[in-house]
Amino acid sequence: MPIIIAVGMQWGDEGKGRAVDLLSEDVEIVARYNGGDNAGHTVTVGDKIFKLHLIPSGIIHGHTIGVLGNGLVLNPATLLEEMEMLRQAGIIITPERFWISDAAHFITPAHRLIDRAQESARGKSQIGTTGRGIGPSYVDKCARRGIRVGNLLQPEAFREKVKQHFEDANKLLTILYRQPAIEVTSMAEEFIGQASQLIPYIKCVGMQIRHALKYHKIILAEAAQGTLLDLDQGSYPFVTSSCTTAAGIFSGLGIGIQPVDRVIGITKAFQTRVGAGPFPTELFDKTAAFLRGTGSNPWDEYGTTTGRPRRVGWLDLVLLKYAVEINGATELFLTKMDVLSGLDEIKFCTEYLMDGIPVSELNFSGGAAELERCQPVYRSTPGWQADLRPIRKWKDLPPQVTKYIQIIEAFCGIPVTQVSVGPERSAVITRE
Ligand code: GDP
Ligand code: IMO
Ligand code: MG
Repeated sequence: MPIIIAVGMQWGDEGKGRAVDLLSEDVEIVARYNGGDNAGHTVTVGDKIFKLHLIPSGIIHGHTIGVLGNGLVLNPATLLEEMEMLRQAGIIITPERFWISDAAHFITPAHRLIDRAQESARGKSQIGTTGRGIGPSYVDKCARRGIRVGNLLQPEAFREKVKQHFEDANKLLTILYRQPAIEVTSMAEEFIGQASQLIPYIKCVGMQIRHALKYHKIILAEAAQGTLLDLDQGSYPFVTSSCTTAAGIFSGLGIGIQPVDRVIGITKAFQTRVGAGPFPTELFDKTAAFLRGTGSNPWDEYGTTTGRPRRVGWLDLVLLKYAVEINGATELFLTKMDVLSGLDEIKFCTEYLMDGIPVSELNFSGGAAELERCQPVYRSTPGWQADLRPIRKWKDLPPQVTKYIQIIEAFCGIPVTQVSVGPERSAVITRE
């Protein structure tokens, strides 16, 4: 079956946007199936840098159809801004090539306020959310009181539902979190005005994709966030509120379980995390400053959505292997290899000491409490000085680079098929 899944193997920001843009060259439909505008996917084409939060990265190619599946939570205000940003850049955004599932849920301004109020109420135990209202919108979905995109098609009932939502949110905000009340009528009208502009794009996405599959169209699924932020398999509770793994594609797009051609695990050549939670291989020394960069380059480690400096560290192979298994990854797409140039030695974690006992495989579900008890055990391999950015052929890679790649492959048991050596579309080495 012509399904390809591109999924993040770490705590997000692995370079999914960059990889999906490249993979979209030969596909018809590119679909997001989870999360919302907490994602920030960067695509660099020549001197243009696109930062996409909702619309699939494959939309930059003129031949694709971009799809937002039912698994998403959508803020109409930021979605409309993104559609406009793309139009200004010459990308065609029409109902013919951009579809929104009628079963996706909305994020309202009240969800954002609740997200922020909950974070401050958590005090020292903050998750470090993006403040985009993701969790509260999924809470309403699970509590079966969410507002679905398809509700827009009954305008009067939609208006009532939205008002009721803001009234309920007011109780939570004022009584539980001691925040000022929302002005329900004006906020509801503004929200309805924005959401209504999306009506032309509404589709029964599940049915459309099921049809496309029958006609052997190739579907590329673009995950948001990363495996270690998955609600079930990630470092709970320091996770997001959706299914970020490959498994989420079936329920998040509304298609049946069926064979998938490729599950491409996107991973950086080192480790990063933005937000709170355990990070066994985190660094705080001059190597951390080296890996993060100062912010002077567009690819330096500062959040695409929030601008926060990302926490950085050595590649954690124990977690990478776990992610490979959880996703059934068939191959790895390794990004930011160029960033390691200039280091004398590259370290990587191959096992932990968990309460002093060696552990080389996660024998728990990645939860934060267990991960916090793990001390990394490192091995190392020689670094390299060469600038990798101009290299386009595998045979031209310095032997230290191929050795590091072989170590990753041997540990994870799957091949590295592509190595990215710069943010730009062409800066990639595909294994022959
Ligand atoms: P995503 O959320 O997984 O799509 O990743 P982000 O876009 O948030 O962060 C990845 C950053 O790294 C972006 O600024 C990309 O342009 C950049 N990037 C991706 N691949 C490479 C690479 O191979 N080398 C360098 N230097 N930058 C890269
Ligand atoms: P992309 O798709 C990195 C993190 C937040 C926080 C946690 C919960 O660009 O890889 P949320 O707002 O989702 O409730 O925050 O998840 N987070 C991300 N970190 N990349 C992302 O997306 C993220 N989306 C959410 O920082 O720790
Ligand atoms: Mg990102």
